[in-house]
Amino acid sequence: MKEIMNVELRIRKVDFSKCKTDMLVIGMFSDAGGLDGLGKELDSKLGGAIGRLVKLGDFKGKSGTNAVVYGNGRIGAERVLLVGLDEKKKATLDTVRKAAANAAKKAVGMKVGTMSLALHKAFGARFKLPALAQACAEGTYFGSYQYDEYVTEKENERLGSLKAEVIDSDSVKVKELSSGLSSGITIGKAQSYARTLANRPANIINPPKLAAVAQELARGSKNLSCTIFDEEQLAAKGMGGLLAVGSGSQNKPRLIVLKYSAAGRSASRQPTIALVGKAVTFDSGGISIKPASGMDEMKLDKTGGVVVLATMKAVAELKLPVNVYGIVPSAENMPSGTSYRPGDIIETFSGKTVEVLNTDAEGRMILCDALAYAVKQKCDIVIDIATLTGACVIALGRYMAGLMGNDQKLIRELQAAAEQSGEKVWEMPSGDEYAKEMKSKIADLKNIGSKWGGACTAAAFLRQFVGDTKWVHLDIAGMDMFQKPTEFAVQGSSGFGVRLLTTYLLNLAERKK
Ligand code: BES
Ligand code: ZN
Ligand code: ZN
Repeated sequence: MKEIMNVELRIRKVDFSKCKTDMLVIGMFSDAGGLDGLGKELDSKLGGAIGRLVKLGDFKGKSGTNAVVYGNGRIGAERVLLVGLDEKKKATLDTVRKAAANAAKKAVGMKVGTMSLALHKAFGARFKLPALAQACAEGTYFGSYQYDEYVTEKENERLGSLKAEVIDSDSVKVKELSSGLSSGITIGKAQSYARTLANRPANIINPPKLAAVAQELARGSKNLSCTIFDEEQLAAKGMGGLLAVGSGSQNKPRLIVLKYSAAGRSASRQPTIALVGKAVTFDSGGISIKPASGMDEMKLDKTGGVVVLATMKAVAELKLPVNVYGIVPSAENMPSGTSYRPGDIIETFSGKTVEVLNTDAEGRMILCDALAYAVKQKCDIVIDIATLTGACVIALGRYMAGLMGNDQKLIRELQAAAEQSGEKVWEMPSGDEYAKEMKSKIADLKNIGSKWGGACTAAAFLRQFVGDTKWVHLDIAGMDMFQKPTEFAVQGSSGFGVRLLTTYLLNLAERKK
């Protein structure tokens, strides 16, 4: 099996035009009316090659576009890559992240070994340098990511690693940039870890295998501990929802519980957050089987769970002063003679009973047990993340995740983290009107509502398992993957949620200091 792309990243003090590199990356805004100071300096050394390219209109500075200009021996770089930044007034940290991603993807595609990012001066005036370095790191990991561990053919093979750097000629700036780089690297690596786990198919990763991955993760970290509940322990605990969904598969369900404890004496005074992630390693729909077309994409139905594992990895590396549970219910939803069926009434861990009317609405069946478990651990805040409903994709498209919750302050904190991380969310309702639809005549709840508002009724179902605990639900059904390659990413898992959740926890830790 092939190693996933190894990315090394550093900050270096060096003169831009003297920087020896395979690819020097500079940004250009679409409305800047030409080159900025650095662009002009390089252009004059390159005999006007960049200026001509821009003048001919071959590069307009649009986001997601780039253009290569070759060196001539008078600058240190072999190539200059111009990357588009769109309109200057619209620039955010995500502009930087995306530009870095676009450049890194291009570098890997061109088999370039070293890439040097020069930050556009306009960003330094608007954002803090550590945050800019973090965005560069996150973008570099995101864009260079490839998933080819099972490709054995040697033809047109990529390089095994990318050596990247953020450069500046000012030593004070270099020092400030350095302080944001390491969190960017941690988050970037964690997101790649999530993408690889999510991309692995269901014949490679099933619930027991995912549990082994979590145990391995905990073994590698002093502050993480891992407990796995197997099918017998789940039965003893009465986790009827998780057991029902897993009952049709040879690969038995697991509840994965990772615990991260903040170091030091004040740890017990810190809040405890539960991250709950849906990990259906394959969602065939079960007896209510899905159509054949696109069913392969349902190997990604474990995305919420692997994003939680990856976030726990990042939290442990960042040594954040908060206590975090990572709770991942995992099952394979398959049709067979032992499957749960439409009509079944299931007793869940909370004691509430659920009438199953569609076995494809399995996410809520496993999450309700995990949410009740989180509440039982006395967590102060519960955040769940799940590829829960096709209805959410219909409502929001593939641009942002649905966000529902029962606490406005927590909702606002997640909205702020979304803004910062570039992983967007949009608030949707999940209150009484929706909860009413989920009432059953012969059990406490049923697992589907009417034809309409499916993302909201699903959230309203979950809401009933958290009681008064502060809770937010993220429906990432439209966000778990890229169905086609983009200018910033290869096809497949996006790892959506790792940056969002880690940023939320980083902000929380910052406020607790
Ligand atoms: N895993 C799916 C949701 C999904 C759909 C994720 C598309 C990613 C892309 C979920 O388990 C599911 O099948 N939901 C059903 C619920 C319905 C039966 C109430 C759906 O959305 O159709
Ligand atoms: Zn389903
Ligand atoms: Zn599902």
